[in-house]
Amino acid sequence: MQTLDRTPSLIDALRTRRLKLAALVDFPVVLWSGQSSPRNFRANTFPFRASSHFLYFAGLPLENAVIRLEGGKLTLFIDEASPASALWHGETPKRDEIAAAIGATEAYPLSELKPEDKDKGEILKANPSKWANGAATIGVQDRETHVGQFVMCQRNVFRDVGRIEGIDLELAQAIVSLRLIHDDLALAEMRKAATVSIAAHKAGMAATRKARVEAEVRAAMEAVIIANGMTCAYSSIVTVHGEVLHNDQYHHPIQPGDLLLADVGAETVSGWAADITRTWAVSGKFSPTQRSLYNVVLAAHDACIAAIRPGVEYRDLHLLAARTIAAGLVDLGILHGQVDALVEQDAHALFFPHGVGHILGLDVHDMEDLGDLAGYEAGRTRSDRFGLNYLRLDRPLQAGMVVTSEPGFYQVPAILQDPERRATYQNVVDWDRLAQFADVRGIRIEDDVLVTETGAEVITAALPTDAEAIERLVQG
Ligand code: GLY
Ligand code: MN
Ligand code: MN
Repeated sequence: MQTLDRTPSLIDALRTRRLKLAALVDFPVVLWSGQSSPRNFRANTFPFRASSHFLYFAGLPLENAVIRLEGGKLTLFIDEASPASALWHGETPKRDEIAAAIGATEAYPLSELKPEDKDKGEILKANPSKWANGAATIGVQDRETHVGQFVMCQRNVFRDVGRIEGIDLELAQAIVSLRLIHDDLALAEMRKAATVSIAAHKAGMAATRKARVEAEVRAAMEAVIIANGMTCAYSSIVTVHGEVLHNDQYHHPIQPGDLLLADVGAETVSGWAADITRTWAVSGKFSPTQRSLYNVVLAAHDACIAAIRPGVEYRDLHLLAARTIAAGLVDLGILHGQVDALVEQDAHALFFPHGVGHILGLDVHDMEDLGDLAGYEAGRTRSDRFGLNYLRLDRPLQAGMVVTSEPGFYQVPAILQDPERRATYQNVVDWDRLAQFADVRGIRIEDDVLVTETGAEVITAALPTDAEAIERLVQG
């Protein structure tokens, strides 16, 4: 972090978040930002990404920093850069400047954060803002910092959601309730991420006809994100093998008859994400079979968005997508049967095996470090049904949540060639008819949707979804 703006709106928003947390918990909270992990030796690291819980309350991606929150008060712990660091990394802001930028009232070196110590107890009581012991925390992802959390808190700090307990669990529940409902600062950041992601998708479409391999399209897309000073919110998926749901390979040649699926989203400097998928024809023109399946997926995508409003169960949106896809496949002669009965027996999941989406925020699957604590309403657990077990969100929607709508159609060999599944669904799938759609391996259409008081706002709506508009963008 080289530059620092002291923005009153940032300081105000962070203070409001702290005060809201203080109203929910009556114990101190200590949050670590974490540090970059070594790649092949200590000085050559993976890019640093601050913990999202830290970012939510500190606002800045500070490496190796700790914040302590109590009663709305913020104390920062961070070391000043050493002279050697200035040689390799340039000048960085001073501790007091950082503290002022985020509204911290006290700031100390990291060594001043102390576990409670019987011998020093009296001294520490005189300055309680330096205590870590007795405070709640959330386990960070990098191992080195995580081990340090055990030492400082003098107890186990669990990351597996089933094992988080006591005040750590109370803290996680409080943070979930805050981070589920986005404030203006969060929404402004997510809109920035959306705008850049939309430009990236348009660049990818425009680059496709001249590209020889997937990597060239990925490069055109990520170039836009990098040029805007952002990073990718997750590993980009840019592939002619859209049936591999989280494909992370980019070496396949792209041919005129292929569909290309691109799931690419930007992340702002302070960590807020966008998550967009579009699928287009490499030639710039969908074949008749591609177009008909594309329109089935689009119908499901649009139906879900039209149904989004406060109070609606997200699980019902998933089932609406499932019914819309099943109905479309019946119309195309790929499935036989009555739509509700097909969904009841999970026949849609042969082609749409994942959930229709998830919450979005500082993480692309927001707060998934806490397992299903954020995604699932208290008392609910994952279904073991083939058509429901990958559903990441099962809550009634509330105004201020941002969710994705991302139905898809895939021909996954591991599912469709599985002898048991073929036996189960032998009478509902017309396998000969399905073979006529061999030029469709994977289609997904994904947008980011803000739940408003009265309905929904698609924050990624400036990127078209209809087949003809996509064709025009690819054709340039
Ligand atoms: N980009 C990952 C997802 O859509 O869930
Ligand atoms: Mn998504
Ligand atoms: Mn995505």
